[in-house]
Amino acid sequence: MRIASLFSALCAATIVSAVERAAEIWIQPVEAVQKPSVLAEVSYDLAALSTSSVTSYEAPDLPEDTKTVRIGIFDKKSKQWVSGSTVASVDNFSKGYSPNFLLSVDSKGEVVSAAIKGIKVDAGYTRDFGPKVVVLPEVKGKQPELNKPVVLSPEGKREEVQEKSFIQKYVPPS
Ligand SMILES: *[C@@H]1O[C@H](CO)[C@@H](O)[C@H](O)[C@H]1NC(C)=O
Repeated sequence: MRIASLFSALCAATIVSAVERAAEIWIQPVEAVQKPSVLAEVSYDLAALSTSSVTSYEAPDLPEDTKTVRIGIFDKKSKQWVSGSTVASVDNFSKGYSPNFLLSVDSKGEVVSAAIKGIKVDAGYTRDFGPKVVVLPEVKGKQPELNKPVVLSPEGKREEVQEKSFIQKYVPPS
């Protein structure tokens, strides 16, 4: 009885997750010793990526001296970054800027890399300036060099910096 209902629950979950997905985006200061924390949660549907949305967002609580942050998908169980992560200046979180996330996902919907860009909020506009997300499928074989996530060494040193032009290319300016 129990097993049967668990099985049907699992089936239902599988059907749902085949289309609708959610991902937690994590943040960690690069300069300070502080554990990564959840910055935002996004939901997306592989069959309708334009409907992707930020379902929760919490402004990061970072140490005073933080200059740069690492953004990516962190698995709290294995305590590892499970996607490519990118480095952004904390200035992206300044007052007057709205966070815009960019995720690239593989054909199964797994997040390959995550990035953030703070887009200036123009007080003159009436449109919604809440946090936004753009989810892009990773195109195999055609992936431009620009699409490479920044790779941090275990010490947090930046090994590659490509995310600026990547973001500039794909996140539409507001
Ligand atoms: C966001 O971070 C990137 C990478 O550090 C930086 O080049 C850019 O100027 C920052 N944007 C803002 C609005 O501070």
